[in-house]
Amino acid sequence: MTENTAHTDSQLAAFEDKVANEQRIEPKDWMPDAFRKTVLRQMSQHAHSEVIGMQPEGNWITRAPTLHRKVILLAKIQDEGGHGLYLYSAAETLGTTREEMVQALHDGKAKYASIFNYPALTWADIGMIGWLVDGAAIVNQVSLQRTSYGPYSRAMIRICKEESFHQRQGYAATMVLARGSTAQKAMAQDALNRWWWPALMMFGPHDSDSAHSGQSMRWKLKRESNDVLRQRFVDQAVPQAEFIGLQIPDPNLKWNEERGSYDFGAIDWDEFMQVIAGNGPCNRQRLAHHIRAQQEGQWVRDAMHAYELKRQARAVA
Ligand code: 3HC
Repeated sequence: MTENTAHTDSQLAAFEDKVANEQRIEPKDWMPDAFRKTVLRQMSQHAHSEVIGMQPEGNWITRAPTLHRKVILLAKIQDEGGHGLYLYSAAETLGTTREEMVQALHDGKAKYASIFNYPALTWADIGMIGWLVDGAAIVNQVSLQRTSYGPYSRAMIRICKEESFHQRQGYAATMVLARGSTAQKAMAQDALNRWWWPALMMFGPHDSDSAHSGQSMRWKLKRESNDVLRQRFVDQAVPQAEFIGLQIPDPNLKWNEERGSYDFGAIDWDEFMQVIAGNGPCNRQRLAHHIRAQQEGQWVRDAMHAYELKRQARAVA
């Protein structure tokens, strides 16, 4: 039996009709296996990204320059953990479990966002992660609020409400450095030099090289293309850098009056492919940390499971 031959033509027609009419596909709806598979791929990757993204920022909690910055960073990291939980819960509606998604990550069968394989070397990197990484994530996630899979769309709407705080606090922290001493401004510029291009890579390969975009756009899983969203991010971030006196590390960056957008230089896709193949600066430590944390936290999950069993037993007694 080929994939999905068990479905009836009317099921496929109903699915396609809902997508065409901007109706959300819900967990109980029939859906093509390939749709379920790619939604799960993207949602689990997104959930993994939120959780692994806590690592570079978590390394700076004890080294935040003020109590105020420490509290903001703690709140942001806590938000990211919550975003991961929303997305794992939403992904579980596709018939998989959190344990299976995490195991796929540990087995190298699932990805997380390339950006988190770069080190956060100074406090300025924490500002950059908020300003550029969350800034790029917001551009992508605002668009994903209109994704065709219902639970994913609703998770995005909830997550976007918190992301704008993440981007603003990062930009504010960067502004303090950019307007500070010469050494502070140099630290901010050094961080911008290291995070700018990996932030552009977050949006994925060029549309012409994207393996999934065409089908994902037809299914309205993806509402705007990688390049459209990347361009939107560049057009937002460049004026923000100029406002605080930082230089975007791209000699080919130039305002294109005709397009009403910035032209920018070539992205190093060899670097991108190396990073997503597991050969980035921090891939091994990020995954090792995730595996260790998962193992060290097993007793908590066992205790909660035991409690739940006991509660259920009492409820039926
Ligand atoms: N990091 C890792 N892998 C990436 C990637 C990235 N930035 N961009 C693309 N890829 C991978 C894809 O997963 C795919 O590999 P696969 O076939 O083995 O899964 C391959 O490169 C081809 O890319 P495509 O563009 O064809 O893949 P998609 O159609 O899935 O588009 C995407 C890539 C734009 C990243 C899309 O998956 C997406 O929108 N994902 C949801 C957004 C997301 O994951 N955001 C995480 C950002 S971090 C974050 O939110 C935390 C923040 O709050 C700090």
